[in-house]
Amino acid sequence: MSLPKHIAIIMDGNGRWARARGLPRAVGHERGVEALRRTVEAAGKMGIEYLTLFSFSTENWRRPAEEVNALFGLLRAYVKRDLERLKAEGVRVRIIGSRENVPADILELIGKAERETEANRRGNLTIAFNYGGREEIVRAARALAQNVIDGALLPEDIDAEQFASVLDTSMLPDPDLLIRTSGEARISNFLLWQIAYTELVILDVLWPDFDGDHLAGAITAYQQRERRFGALAEEGRADG
Ligand code: FPP
Repeated sequence: MSLPKHIAIIMDGNGRWARARGLPRAVGHERGVEALRRTVEAAGKMGIEYLTLFSFSTENWRRPAEEVNALFGLLRAYVKRDLERLKAEGVRVRIIGSRENVPADILELIGKAERETEANRRGNLTIAFNYGGREEIVRAARALAQNVIDGALLPEDIDAEQFASVLDTSMLPDPDLLIRTSGEARISNFLLWQIAYTELVILDVLWPDFDGDHLAGAITAYQQRERRFGALAEEGRADG
């Protein structure tokens, strides 16, 4: 099977990585950003067109304020430090998720990163920040309801394609491969609509230890799968 066009990753295990070393959780997240950098680089070299990373979920607000602030700080630092390089490498950056409760300076940074990279075509890095799949679907439903109220849309004209067009990911193909690190086999409210036919690969590595070899391994596992999208296997089809 060919290379996945779109890889999504749930970057899990930063806290456990830190705890195992007697370090504060924030250090695990810092090392997580290094793994993120390595991954963006490795995916680019391998020719992956779309990479989408889960960096802060709408449920992560339940964590202590100190940790929430540390995660916000890391996003700020990442965009500030890496934007020029991403621009130079031709990567288009998008941030998906709710803009609600996000500090104004982060909104400004996000806007700048999206604007300054919008003409880039060599690769697509999407960071899910303040993102929750159900929240995204609810926002999409509200947008469609508003279109109906405005007289621009009939309820019977709403189909899956129309629905997808008002999701945050309207510009992205659905992920072919979803990787989750740290061995947990959960979706955790990530890209609920978009992963209908996505292949899942769960890896037993904590996110700060993730590197290009793990990415290559996950791609190999994906390539050994047979994707049927609800149809029969090739063999079954031949039998009629
Ligand atoms: C899971 O580890 C990871 C997260 C909650 C967020 C991932 C965040 C980063 C990689 C850093 C942020 C980077 C940017 C650019 C915003 P966990 O804390 O749930 O780990 P645990 O399950 O072991 O406790």
